[in-house]
Amino acid sequence: MYMETFSTQKFVVNPGGKIDGTLRVPGDKSISHRAIMLSALAKGTTQINGFLEAEDTNATLEAFKEMGVSIQGPSNGQVTIHGVGLHGLQAPSIPLHFGNSGTAIRLLSGIMAGQTFSVEMGGDESLSYRPMRRITEPLNAMGAHVLASENDTPPLIIMDKQRLQGIDYVMPIASAQVKSCLLLAGLYANGTTCVAEPAPTRDHTERMLHGFGYPIKRDGRRVCLQGGGKLHAISIDVPADISSAAFFIVGAIIAKKSDLLLNHVGINPTRAGIINILRQMGANITLHNQRNIGGEPIADIRVRSSALHGIKIPKEQVPLAIDEFPILFIAAACAKGETVLSGAEELRLKESDRIQVMADGLQAIGINAQPTDDGMVIQGGKIRGGVVNSCGDHRIAMAFTIAALCAKNTITIEDCSNVATSFPSFVKLAQEIGIDIKLVNQL
Ligand code: S3P
Repeated sequence: MYMETFSTQKFVVNPGGKIDGTLRVPGDKSISHRAIMLSALAKGTTQINGFLEAEDTNATLEAFKEMGVSIQGPSNGQVTIHGVGLHGLQAPSIPLHFGNSGTAIRLLSGIMAGQTFSVEMGGDESLSYRPMRRITEPLNAMGAHVLASENDTPPLIIMDKQRLQGIDYVMPIASAQVKSCLLLAGLYANGTTCVAEPAPTRDHTERMLHGFGYPIKRDGRRVCLQGGGKLHAISIDVPADISSAAFFIVGAIIAKKSDLLLNHVGINPTRAGIINILRQMGANITLHNQRNIGGEPIADIRVRSSALHGIKIPKEQVPLAIDEFPILFIAAACAKGETVLSGAEELRLKESDRIQVMADGLQAIGINAQPTDDGMVIQGGKIRGGVVNSCGDHRIAMAFTIAALCAKNTITIEDCSNVATSFPSFVKLAQEIGIDIKLVNQL
């Protein structure tokens, strides 16, 4: 098992403040991962702008360098990738290490399943608990030879093999990572690979494959492609990440007298659950200058202080906001009345058990939050302040930072180093925009 010890950091956030001004948060993490992967597998040179420079996406970048892909950058969000074509990757000389990133290991598994060399892939302690049967089973059904460790978790070993066969797969869970993994394996398979999803999930892989000139067809909930085609290099403009913007969106809603403009944010409908849910709770969110860049819809988002009320979160919104529940729970804590989430059991399988860790943290700061098997029931109330443990989960650390805007006393958040996996500039931007946050290094 891969284990690492990091010196840990804590955030000390003083109560109050308002969120004001204009901000562009860093590039979208999901799109940045996919941009590296498809550029590396394309013929020709791809120029990426707006790339997220963070630990998770850097892990993907390093993996492709290790497999012989020549990459310049990242520098100020710019990366140049000299693609080697679908069959040009070289065997890595060391196991590939993906840190905290579930997206990297699951999507790369699809690509690795199609290679003529064997590879070992792992990550940090959190990644070593993430379930992998959801990809190993269908990949092996395609003829791959993927071995996981006990309990079907990383590290994974993917053996070299004969050509993969296409699959017609109905996913038992709504997961963009599983869908993308199988579509990427399908590039290397004989015949057609189809994946059907029980509910819509983020469709960046499909949009980007289309952008790289690879034929891909959607028919309702089913998406299909033929193996054996080619990807052609393009240029990519990565929008700002709505999952990072989400923290400041909620901050501006719950802090009095706030008015915030977030520029160039990706508002792909498969990611827009946060906007839909907050609007149902009474939030004043408006979209401006809507445009389409490289196949992804983008807008500037204006958010003003609003009085929220509790709701029963519609089930169909859950996959569309799957990464935003930590911050949505903070919004619920600040709302009038009860908010109920159900149908979100996947939250227990993220970078931490986000149902339990968030419920513990909310209770520690004085909020009545009752975890259930597949969600949470939260009574809006007064946030008292206190000490919470993020359990190394980046989104939980950032969510409790925002809670301080409405707290009576200071909130101290422990185990925050992993914020660097998705949003290394979070503390700096939070300070600039009006949050009284201090980062404390602990050994
Ligand atoms: C992601 C898909 C989601 C999401 C993750 C990123 C992706 O995971 O939670 O942060 O980029 O495909 P699941 O596929 O497990 O829902």
